[in-house]
Amino acid sequence: MSESLLQVRIWRGGPADQDGRFVEYQVPRLESQTVLDVVTHVQRSVDPTLSYRFACRVGMCGSCAMTVNGQARWSCRTHVSKVVDEGGVLEIAPLSNLPVVKDLATDMSGFFDKWAQARGRFQGGQTRHDDFAKVSPQSRERQAADAGIECIGCAVCYASCDVVQWRPEFLGPAALNRAWTLVNDVRDTDQTERLRAVAGDAGCHSCHTQGSCTERCPKGLAPTMGIAGLKRTVARAAVKGQL
Ligand code: FES
Repeated sequence: MSESLLQVRIWRGGPADQDGRFVEYQVPRLESQTVLDVVTHVQRSVDPTLSYRFACRVGMCGSCAMTVNGQARWSCRTHVSKVVDEGGVLEIAPLSNLPVVKDLATDMSGFFDKWAQARGRFQGGQTRHDDFAKVSPQSRERQAADAGIECIGCAVCYASCDVVQWRPEFLGPAALNRAWTLVNDVRDTDQTERLRAVAGDAGCHSCHTQGSCTERCPKGLAPTMGIAGLKRTVARAAVKGQL
């Protein structure tokens, strides 16, 4: 029986206005094959200069996200059969809204810089000599934090966000989701500065609530809800004269 082949177009080089372009390949089509399997086959068996990023292969690290047939996805958890019909073409490109380093590898530094701008790190007020904080799992704040805490920073939401595309300075859904989890962390002592950080022109009020982040998040998180929570919290703080 002849081997079934899959037609693949992979982005090679830098951005489109430099030397970037799609290059076509044929790879064996296999059962239960993932998009990451396809990229790995091309690198190992066709062209070892192909650059891409991955680590865990099981949807834990978030490093393998790519644009697959026009949509940001984890390549390790996307089966080819889910995105390409028999005889169809698989198109793989780097994530949108991030600078291309080479081929499928993007520069994530701007994405994580925005987490820092949104004051997305925990600031505690206790020492090792204090008793540990007790936060009821049933409390409203803990449940709001829990709803967004599983983000692994894959940037699928960021690459899917139209507002980031229109306004590159927008902090984006991942950084704002992180800020929302910390706003709901009753142990954190940096609340006013964090609200100031997300209240500006590049912050939560720039979100148009189109919901692409929530629709595409591979972890099933809802950054749209967190951003709406930030909008309410910022408004309340502004009315009270706290910002
Ligand atoms: Fe870790 Fe895909 S390789 S999430």
